[in-house]
Amino acid sequence: EIMPSLVGSEMCIRDSANLTKTIFDGLGLPTPVRLKREDHSSAHKLSGHVLVGCTEDGSFAKAINTMLEATPMTIAEADNQARVSLVFDASGISTTEQSSQLYQFFSQHLGSLALCGRVIVIGHKPQALTDTTHATLQRGLVGFIKSVAKEIGRKGATANLLYIDKGGKTAIEAPLRFLLSAGSAFMNAQVINVGKPVVKVTGDWARPLEGKSVVVTGAARGIGLAISQVLARDGATVIGIDVPQAADDLNGAMAAINGLSLPLDITTEDAADLLVQFCLDHNSQLHSIIHNAGITRDKMLSRMTSVQWDLLMQVNLGAAQRINDALLGTDLLDKGGKIIGVASISGIAGNVGQTNYGFSKSAVIGMVDSLAASCAKRGITINAVAPGFIETQMTAAIPFMTRQMGRRLSSLSQGGLPVDVAEVIGFLVSPQAAGINGNTVRVCGQSLLGA
Ligand code: NAI
Repeated sequence: EIMPSLVGSEMCIRDSANLTKTIFDGLGLPTPVRLKREDHSSAHKLSGHVLVGCTEDGSFAKAINTMLEATPMTIAEADNQARVSLVFDASGISTTEQSSQLYQFFSQHLGSLALCGRVIVIGHKPQALTDTTHATLQRGLVGFIKSVAKEIGRKGATANLLYIDKGGKTAIEAPLRFLLSAGSAFMNAQVINVGKPVVKVTGDWARPLEGKSVVVTGAARGIGLAISQVLARDGATVIGIDVPQAADDLNGAMAAINGLSLPLDITTEDAADLLVQFCLDHNSQLHSIIHNAGITRDKMLSRMTSVQWDLLMQVNLGAAQRINDALLGTDLLDKGGKIIGVASISGIAGNVGQTNYGFSKSAVIGMVDSLAASCAKRGITINAVAPGFIETQMTAAIPFMTRQMGRRLSSLSQGGLPVDVAEVIGFLVSPQAAGINGNTVRVCGQSLLGA
């Protein structure tokens, strides 16, 4: 067993990897590459080389090139020797024969992919197309991207797909920039739907949340603490909430990022009203609410007590619903606000002993699906992240071998860090991501579970 106190640090990932390297080498599993992550100075810095490809009749290549020229990235020539990230506009593929253009670009250039490089494919959302053959072929991109991700994971590289919905062309820049940045290190094999922006796309790329207030629940430690730190880095004033027993940690965490501390058990009857009043007292607008607080109460269903079911449901689901209702009962979030749910791959794949947790996390995805349309009408987006195996105190409690398997069961052969989830949330709440609504983004390094 490794020292629990080290769990959660990058050192731990390396040490534990060394410890069991022999076992896993014996099983033929690759040694994980250390992922490149953002430094803490500013958001979404872009560097390196990118090679752009396009099918005939592609709709987005011009927009992609124009936006890349405005970044510090170098647009590589096809015969250049540089190690690159690859962006391919596949929107023009509308016949079976045309799919070979995808094959030709990637079979020629995948060998030049940089360590921790990115593959980004852009296509039309099939449901937005009236031509059935075109829609059929665009759907194929999902299987392509998921398979590419499995091929390149051993390089610490990722592959993701942007599906452009009706009116989404003007909102491509934010997801493209984020996917090319180090912030997306653990987001792999995902399909992001980019739709018509719910408000005008504006904002500063380095400090997208300057002057904005955000609420993060469960902010005293783990993923919630990382979310608070990343959003503060991006310019936000964070209102951190956690249970009164964690007030000391919460106060310390918020003081370090010039945030505001609100010790509060979110399951109490008046919690939602207190939260709304606290926000109103400090600002006339709230930019985002991040429903991160969550608990597990694992037991086989036959031995689970009703308390274990009910308590978990109130923390993971009921509180988020009540807070949403209270906030949406005001105009605090209108015209640019963001709601973020924190789901889990257990809510997608299911997990032994987690019927309660799996239900609650699936319902968080349901909350996003069912509120997206009405939120959009008010200029609000609602999205969720679904983390996979993330190194926190929650996962440190898992027995060692199971934990090690959990880490290794992804295409990147490692667990993620809290900051990886936080960076995806930072992107989703950035004002420029106004076209991203109703998505649940897995942050799991392409975990095999529920894939
Ligand atoms: P954690 O246990 O380290 O932190 C959760 C925080 O929420 C704690 O500070 C806790 O005091 C707070 N909290 C719990 N009940 C509360 C209540 N009634 N009112 C206010 N605050 C409350 O957990 P971790 O790992 O940081 O998880 C954060 C979120 O991410 C949770 O929703 C969890 O389900 C989800 N998640 C975590 C994964 C992981 O691998 N660690 C994987 C998938 C999802």
